[in-house]
Amino acid sequence: MSSSSDPLNDAPLDDERRGDIAYQPVLPGQVALVTGANSGIGRAVALGLAQAGADVAVNFLDRPEDARAVVEAIRGYGRRAIAVQADVSDEAQVDAMFAQVTATFGALHIAVANAGLQDDCAFEAMSLGQWNKVIAVNLTGQFLCARAAIRQFDQQGPDPGVSLATGKVICMSSVHQEIPWAGHANYAASKGGVMMLMRSIAQEVAPRRIRVNGIAPGAIRTGINTKAWDTPQAYADLMAHVPYKRIGEPDDVARAAVWLASDASDYVTGTTLFVDGGMTLYPGFATGG
Ligand code: BGC
Repeated sequence: MSSSSDPLNDAPLDDERRGDIAYQPVLPGQVALVTGANSGIGRAVALGLAQAGADVAVNFLDRPEDARAVVEAIRGYGRRAIAVQADVSDEAQVDAMFAQVTATFGALHIAVANAGLQDDCAFEAMSLGQWNKVIAVNLTGQFLCARAAIRQFDQQGPDPGVSLATGKVICMSSVHQEIPWAGHANYAASKGGVMMLMRSIAQEVAPRRIRVNGIAPGAIRTGINTKAWDTPQAYADLMAHVPYKRIGEPDDVARAAVWLASDASDYVTGTTLFVDGGMTLYPGFATGG
């Protein structure tokens, strides 16, 4: 996008400005686990939590070298970090991952259920396998990780010197928990499910001072949606859906995650924070309707 003459579409400029925003040290002494943290939004969230003072477990499924690079970067911030391999849709692997994280760090305060994927297909051609895979990772994976996190929070109990809440779960959803998405029925259904999973758990565990919230990113510049932004034409088409007239960067989501994980949001539970440049504002209605 650097060749764009439209300053609103000039992503490197945006990056430069956002690079000046320092993370406040709001998470000292806290331990976080981020799933799918070797790329994209998960990677940025792991790095953001670490810059805010947390020690971080970096979950990955494949590409261990990318997870190791995130771990090294976190150590560069002076925080502790480990890489943990697990398929979030596998119960035994998820439980073993949480056991490893708490054995290593002694506690867990923040769980970010981020790992997710798309397997897009016209509905009538969608196989049961495509449906099951997306639901297994995006929805069942969040169930398994939230359950393991909440079990751990209950077991360790409150530690108000470290965090006002006994624990925090952050579910990575999508604008497609709200916006229907033709050709992506499995993905949109999984994210709609994440939203009600998140709210139902939040209602259930609030009396135990466990906060559960969601983040709904819009179009964020990651590998999951390269085709939506990697040519000038694609980027221009995308901007028709984004009132704020720039693509989101993974760091935009990371800053929201840091806030939801911190005591600054202590009275916030069961909510979804949309980080979407206004994508859910029905921009088509700005000029019609
Ligand atoms: C999807 C992206 C898409 C964005 C906005 C996300 O949840 O993963 O592929 O660009 O929503 O439509």
